[in-house]
Amino acid sequence: MDLQEQLEELRTSTQAQLQAIKAENAKELQDLRVKVLGKKGSLTELLKGLKDLPNELRPVVGKQVNEVRDVLTKAFEEQGRILEQAQIQAQLESESLDVTLPGRQISIGNRHVLSQTSQEIEDIFLGMGYQVVDGLEVEQDYYNFERMNLPKDHPARDMQDTFYISEDILLRTHTSPVQARTLDKHDFSKGPLKMISPGRVFRRDTDDATHSHQFHQIEGLVVGKNISMGDLKGTLELISKKMFGEDRSIRLRPSYFPFTEPSVEVDVSCFKCGGEGCNVCKKTGWIEILGAGMVHPRVLEMAGVDAEEYSGFAFGLGQERIAMLRYGINDIRGFYQGDSRFTEQFK
Ligand code: PHE
Repeated sequence: MDLQEQLEELRTSTQAQLQAIKAENAKELQDLRVKVLGKKGSLTELLKGLKDLPNELRPVVGKQVNEVRDVLTKAFEEQGRILEQAQIQAQLESESLDVTLPGRQISIGNRHVLSQTSQEIEDIFLGMGYQVVDGLEVEQDYYNFERMNLPKDHPARDMQDTFYISEDILLRTHTSPVQARTLDKHDFSKGPLKMISPGRVFRRDTDDATHSHQFHQIEGLVVGKNISMGDLKGTLELISKKMFGEDRSIRLRPSYFPFTEPSVEVDVSCFKCGGEGCNVCKKTGWIEILGAGMVHPRVLEMAGVDAEEYSGFAFGLGQERIAMLRYGINDIRGFYQGDSRFTEQFK
């Protein structure tokens, strides 16, 4: 093959190789350019053969070399443009942005269902002129038991065993000690005492679906002149209707608490079956929601309040119990595990 044929062969084979380069392998173009047109490339290599040609042929072949270089240079530029276009096109397609797609939703948290429950109950009582009082979770034996008419050897203490920090300091077993603390502070010359106190309480309970070693109560206390059991019943009826529906009625059953006399257990008519009997009310038509009673004269006297002149009622309701009944929650542990699949159901 003489030099001219080799030149022609280089031109056609380079053009064919150029055509074959794909957009995703655009780097091969540069490699091929160096291989053909570079300082040590094939064309330069062929150029070296010029000196061996007869004189009259040299200008002709030299011209041909220049032509091939021009043609190939243009071909490289052209193919470079084509590949660049193809690359841009591919990039546009892969990075295309659909501005009509809905945005990603940022999930906003919500108040815990127990906080919602106590907030709701607080609002109802605030509307009736009650004050909302904070209590202490770490309490003295004195307020938790003694002042609630549960002296050291009282058998009813057994039902409320708790965590002791020392002999006299414990985690409160109920919100009732707040009764004694607010009674101590209240100035009865300014009017009756009406308060509620929501908060956390503790018991030495084994955790199961309906028991937890910590839970939440709302204490209620009204002390004034001529406060009667009728006031208690009216108040509880109102709160039951607000929490469980206007059609609810309540019933009081005799019970026992050392700090109330008489004491009652309060049932609300079943909001699910309306009283006919179902699985929620265990076929009785009634659901127990709280304990209450008339404040024991001893509790008043220990606070220096004249039990002849003043009387009152108190109640204590379990926040978890109310929420479980209202929302059909059947495992108390759901309240405390912080699983968003649980908490988000109460938005
Ligand atoms: N403290 C009682 C309990 O935890 C409930 C209660 C409160 C009962 C006030 C009567 C009056 O079981």
